[in-house]
Amino acid sequence: MIHAEGLTKRFGSLTAVDQITLDVGDGEVFGFLGPNGAGKTTTVRMLAALISRTSGRAEVAGYELGSEADELKIRERIGVLPDNVGLYDSTSAYQNLEYFGRLHRMDPTALRTNIERLLGMMDLWEKKDLPVSTFSKGMKQKVAIARALVHDPVLLFLDEPTANLDPEAAKMVREVILELKKENRTIFLNTHNLDEAQRICDRVGILRTRLLAVGPVETLRSGFARKRTAVRLERTSEALVAAVKQRLRTDGVEVSGDRLLVDVDDPARENPEIAEAVVAAGGRILELSQVSPSLEEVYLKLVHEETALP
Ligand SMILES: Nc1ncnc2c1ncn2[C@@H]1O[C@H](COP(=O)(O)OP(=O)(O)OP(=O)(O)O)[C@@H](O)[C@H]1O
Ligand SMILES: [Mg+2]
Repeated sequence: MIHAEGLTKRFGSLTAVDQITLDVGDGEVFGFLGPNGAGKTTTVRMLAALISRTSGRAEVAGYELGSEADELKIRERIGVLPDNVGLYDSTSAYQNLEYFGRLHRMDPTALRTNIERLLGMMDLWEKKDLPVSTFSKGMKQKVAIARALVHDPVLLFLDEPTANLDPEAAKMVREVILELKKENRTIFLNTHNLDEAQRICDRVGILRTRLLAVGPVETLRSGFARKRTAVRLERTSEALVAAVKQRLRTDGVEVSGDRLLVDVDDPARENPEIAEAVVAAGGRILELSQVSPSLEEVYLKLVHEETALP
């Protein structure tokens, strides 16, 4: 659905997005993560043909960025929820959607059907005739998402759709996203919420001007940060820590509650040694398990160390 090669955007002397190469498959929910100013919004604007690229190329929904005729096709086939919602406040939810559908020259009957379906899905049909200015932030966000969908796009760009929403409204938006996935739409989601990314995205990309990593969350978690073995004990002690350190010839052992956390490279080789060392030093093991780093750990490591994918 998206194929980008070396996509780059410069604003004067500032490089906002540097040589992004990325594929997003049909029907995929792709999460785009990165600190403030990382270039997420800029990337979305380029891919949505809202701003021009400086160099590189990209194919979006089957059409090429940079060709005027193709960009018209791209705009027909995609929906965008921008980072600032931008609804017409004084008009009603229904009128907002109707206006955008007409901009896309939709057939009036299809438009009416879509508006009814979308506002129904967002639980806003009852309020369809009220001015948007009377809506809460969450309701406005849902109208904005409905607006991005009114012309039945195959690809949807959502720029921080749950920012500033309360947990319940955010959950509703996530459910809408999963609903759209079921309809086999492709979703490109900018978010700062790592938990959200973990829950709903098939794959994520971590951006800091350059793309630092891409993959399913599980792959990033198991591949990028340190592996650790957790040994839950009847009682921890400094003597046990020292025994494990000595046996594994490492300093990477810490105590967390009733557990020892041991840095390991190859658990299959080191776990038996850890167990032996603990038992020999008089410890009683209740449980031994592998801990994957959280997505947050991986994210922070990548963003701070700026280690790119090999
Ligand atoms: N129109 C513009 N003119 C000049 N610089 C810009 C413009 N738009 C964005 N930038 C710069 O490009 C960089 C990337 O900005 P962008 O908005 O893409 O980041 P972001 O990842 O979306 O950040 P956030 O998480 O804060 O939304 C920033 O340094 C920003 O100041
Ligand atoms: Mg942004």
